[in-house]
Amino acid sequence: MDLNLAGKAVIVTGGGSNIGRGIVLAFAREGPNVVIADIDEVQAQKVAKEANDLGGKAIVIKTDVTDVDSVTAMAKKTLEQFGKIDVLVNNVGWGMDRLFIEKPRTEWEKEVNINFWGVINCTRVVLDHMIEQKYGKIISISSDAGRMGEYREAVYAGCKGGVIAMSKTLARELGRYGINVNVVCPGMTLPESPEHAGELSMWKSPMAQFLTPEVQEKAAKAYPLRRLGKPQDVANVVVFLASDVASFITGQTISVSGGYTMM
Ligand SMILES: NC(=O)c1ccc[n+]([C@@H]2O[C@H](COP(=O)([O-])OP(=O)(O)OC[C@H]3O[C@@H](n4cnc5c(N)ncnc54)[C@H](O)[C@@H]3O)[C@@H](O)[C@H]2O)c1
Repeated sequence: MDLNLAGKAVIVTGGGSNIGRGIVLAFAREGPNVVIADIDEVQAQKVAKEANDLGGKAIVIKTDVTDVDSVTAMAKKTLEQFGKIDVLVNNVGWGMDRLFIEKPRTEWEKEVNINFWGVINCTRVVLDHMIEQKYGKIISISSDAGRMGEYREAVYAGCKGGVIAMSKTLARELGRYGINVNVVCPGMTLPESPEHAGELSMWKSPMAQFLTPEVQEKAAKAYPLRRLGKPQDVANVVVFLASDVASFITGQTISVSGGYTMM
């Protein structure tokens, strides 16, 4: 199947680590120009090199998705470099598992800033251009936590649910301009090697130390397909939604979580 992505201009936020890395590498095999918009420039450069070694065309633009000026500058540089923006993948996310009543306000604020404001900022900044060119694909990475709630992830889940509701609304508002807006919800998807996670990755935080092989094995039993996710599982669906093969799909939320949620 020809996905016809060659020559397109794609932005992947948080493309330096784990799922974002998988998405960048999956695009690299399909021929578009890719901007890795990550706050961790060093890690993002490593992924750009991997993508370019695969024959891709990836560049890094250091970006903080929570900072409107930084996001605006990233969109401007993308337009200068590639002349257009066809696809935005809102992939950056962050959470710290903790009971709601035990969580400090600083963690809620970080979760809201990254998981919700980050998506609002990046989406807004590409829209004038996408509306003018009457073409665009926006794919946001949410979470099954945003569909059904998750123990110890109250505010993270709230933000991810917000991303789903916002995307459905945008799909209704933007369809007339040829813009598709969809959401992908991964299940638990660990980096396949420590080098695949940046220093700011959730998987380098103290939270991750509890994910021993035994805990992972137990978690996998909650998934009907009896395994945890791989970045490539999520990336395959993102690349499909970014292509014109999926041009009649909008406002949808797709879980890539081995059947963990069925909605
Ligand atoms: N991995 C999972 O199990 C899982 C499950 C459900 C949903 N998700 C969602 O999938 C997405 C990717 O998850 P992951 O595990 O690959 O994340 P990760 O923590 O491994 O990587 C996040 C990336 O975002 C970058 N980043 C952090 N803050 C940033 C900022 N302010 N501006 C720009 N870049 C920033 C980091 O440098 C890093 O490269 C997230 O939205 C996450 O919520 C992940």
